Amino acid sequence: MSDTRLSIAPVKAAAPVRGAGKPMISARRIARRVRELGHEISDVYADLDQPLVMVVILKGATVFAADLLRSLSIPAELEFVRASSYGTGTASSGRVKFAHLVEGPLTGRDILLVEDIVDSGRTVSTIVKELRRHHPASLRLATLLDRPARREITVDIHFTGFRMPHRFVIGYGLDYAGLYRELPGIYSLG
Ligand code: PRP
Repeated sequence: MSDTRLSIAPVKAAAPVRGAGKPMISARRIARRVRELGHEISDVYADLDQPLVMVVILKGATVFAADLLRSLSIPAELEFVRASSYGTGTASSGRVKFAHLVEGPLTGRDILLVEDIVDSGRTVSTIVKELRRHHPASLRLATLLDRPARREITVDIHFTGFRMPHRFVIGYGLDYAGLYRELPGIYSLG
């Protein structure tokens, strides 16, 4: 089996990474899975009286959310929440810096929280607590990646793209020190 880990030396050398090595999850597999999730989610929310509210966790989930939104066959609004737990390294700092909540009123609305990766679970659980204060009609979580080996807090995930082994990954919105989000596939950094 070919090695799916991507070697990246200096962070500044971002450009040569594009197209280098084999992704752990190719752009084509991601696209197929996101379409499936779009159908699943559209089925679950098919009978809503009001549009679904997709609350996207900045920044990593934006790429996934943009594709997921376009895979839905139901009306959906888009809101954003800012949370950050990583510094510039590959391990969580363990602290969730919660900075910015959504704009729109959420009381009585059906919320789909959209995340790129659930790792320790701290980010999502902090945001879920905040969102529940708005008394939504329902609150579910969709994540592109689930890395359960690093879980510290139990999190209910309703829609999962892929379960991941314990490796640091980049691409399709996920970063290392703010870079590599533009890669179309998901790569292991190591
Ligand atoms: C990453 C990722 C998730 C979170 C997952 O965000 O995008 O939001 O960490 O880790 P956890 O389950 O251990 O909390 P990050 O803080 O790197 O911010 P970013 O999305 O802006 O890159």
